[in-house]
Amino acid sequence: MNAVKGEMPEEIQSFCERAGESLGRLNDPDACIAFARQELRVLLLNRELFTRLLSSILEGGTYPDVHRPTLFDNEILLHQADNRLYSLRMYVWGPGEYTPIHDHNAWGVIGPVTEGFEVINYERLDDGLTEGYAEVRERGRFTLEAGHSAHTYPLNEGIHMTGNPTLGTIITLSLYGKPMARPYIQGFDAINRRVFRIMSPRRKKTHLATLALRTLKSHA
Ligand SMILES: [Fe+2]
Repeated sequence: MNAVKGEMPEEIQSFCERAGESLGRLNDPDACIAFARQELRVLLLNRELFTRLLSSILEGGTYPDVHRPTLFDNEILLHQADNRLYSLRMYVWGPGEYTPIHDHNAWGVIGPVTEGFEVINYERLDDGLTEGYAEVRERGRFTLEAGHSAHTYPLNEGIHMTGNPTLGTIITLSLYGKPMARPYIQGFDAINRRVFRIMSPRRKKTHLATLALRTLKSHA
């Protein structure tokens, strides 16, 4: 089959139709997660679909759109629903690549197309009242087989680090629920007990410009 050119593959279209219909009427995050885990599995086991998606990127196809801004540089947005009800994202992980320890703005389900993806879960120990300070402690780690998935929750209930401990490349898919109105997620430095904001590159530039202007005014 030819690489996808400028259009969403039928498998993703039908996935999104089902997701829109079901997630639109489910309010309980655990019910949404159960739906997402079941539905995502079908896509994750379809390696031919990922061959098409990745080939399209190499051939300069318009879907998926690699120019669409994302939070992480290994992230490719596959679909964002109207009203941001959910989003479907693909990630590609080189050998040894991990996220920082981070939280989320929504519930999420993440699963690999290829074996060996690692999830390390953390709990936050401090009360969050001291600006810039956070204590986190590992509460478990595991690796996922192709088609299997893990889930996460917003804020302190879903702090984790994910990545690729293997020597190969790993492809994952994530389905996230409707995000809360926070224009960043939080990253955690477990050793130095710091918490920091992670923003999209575009938003970070605006944020830094705001801070820098404040600094210039305070020195005027
Ligand atoms: Fe995450």
